[in-house]
Amino acid sequence: MSVQSGTIEDLRASVGLRIADEQLLRTLAAGLADVENLLRETARSDVKAVHEAASHLVEAGGKRFRPMFTLLAAQFGKGNHKGVVTAAAAVELVHLATLYHDDVMDEATMRRGAQSVNARWDNTIAILTGDFLFAHASRLVSELGTDAARIIAETFGELVTGQMRETVGPGDGEDPVEHYLSVVAQKTGSLIATAGRFGGMVSGAEPEHVEALQRFGEIIGTAFQISDDVIDIASPSHESGKTPGTDLREGVRTLPMLFALADPETDPRLRELLAGPIGDDDLVEEALQLLRVSKGLDSATATLADYARRARAQLSALPASAARDACESVADYLVARTR
Ligand code: IPE
Ligand code: IPE
Ligand code: MG
Ligand code: MG
Repeated sequence: MSVQSGTIEDLRASVGLRIADEQLLRTLAAGLADVENLLRETARSDVKAVHEAASHLVEAGGKRFRPMFTLLAAQFGKGNHKGVVTAAAAVELVHLATLYHDDVMDEATMRRGAQSVNARWDNTIAILTGDFLFAHASRLVSELGTDAARIIAETFGELVTGQMRETVGPGDGEDPVEHYLSVVAQKTGSLIATAGRFGGMVSGAEPEHVEALQRFGEIIGTAFQISDDVIDIASPSHESGKTPGTDLREGVRTLPMLFALADPETDPRLRELLAGPIGDDDLVEEALQLLRVSKGLDSATATLADYARRARAQLSALPASAARDACESVADYLVARTR
């Protein structure tokens, strides 16, 4: 397949890949183009309402971080082929389905720089479309065999359990930071781990390399969510494509907030604001301002850097290659994107 240079640039910009190897870039860009076609095909339906709501966020874009990682992981085996593209698209569809549902739960109005589906249509349409996408993700994974079908089912179970534990909050006597980190590994790390595992598995990589990709994925996925939580506080919506302060509105205590609450020097006004969900826009803005200058934000960024370092350490189990260098650059990017 011929590759537009624009596609390669998009790839560089969206997931921060620093790839000097032109051949690898072309391979990834070609794989992503195939994934894109499969995603659009999957969102198609004869029923106009399904088609419109399903295509809405597929077409709005997104970083395609998970399918990119699947394609990259496949480089440790035999590289791109039909099964790898199927796996990459399926992982993105599971992710996308969770976003449709997550925006209902978070009452979010913006996603991928567009209106969220619950805001543009309504909650029922968002929930049903999420289910539709998830159903088709399962169909695609079934083409990869029963092992893959079991793995994606287990992964989805983990992800949902993580979301549930976040909603319920830490139990009595449970350390809130420990709780947060294990929730984030479950709700976000699990799917990114499976993205790497699938890439390795489907392309026939050595079992120990598949395991290393899975471990790297889980840790980098945790780092990914920490950086997302930092961005919810620190970045304007034109950069994130989402509304800042969503976690504050939902009363979800993310890592910067937990660290701010644990710091005896934190402004008492911030403590007061973090006591529960914040409904008022001015109060959300006030809390954001206070969090941006809090030590909590710095501590969360330091934890993020630590996870990125730990993820990078997993890569020593993989053969030195342009693909391994690219995995390293992903770790660097996650830290850099919060600055
Ligand atoms: C958002 O994921 C939800 C999280 C797990 C943080 P992404 O940041 O990958 O969202 P898109 O796919 O680029 O829109
Ligand atoms: C949602 O986390 C993670 C999953 C969908 C599993 P967030 O609520 O932080 O995601 P965003 O910020 O809405 O993308
Ligand atoms: Mg959300
Ligand atoms: Mg978020």
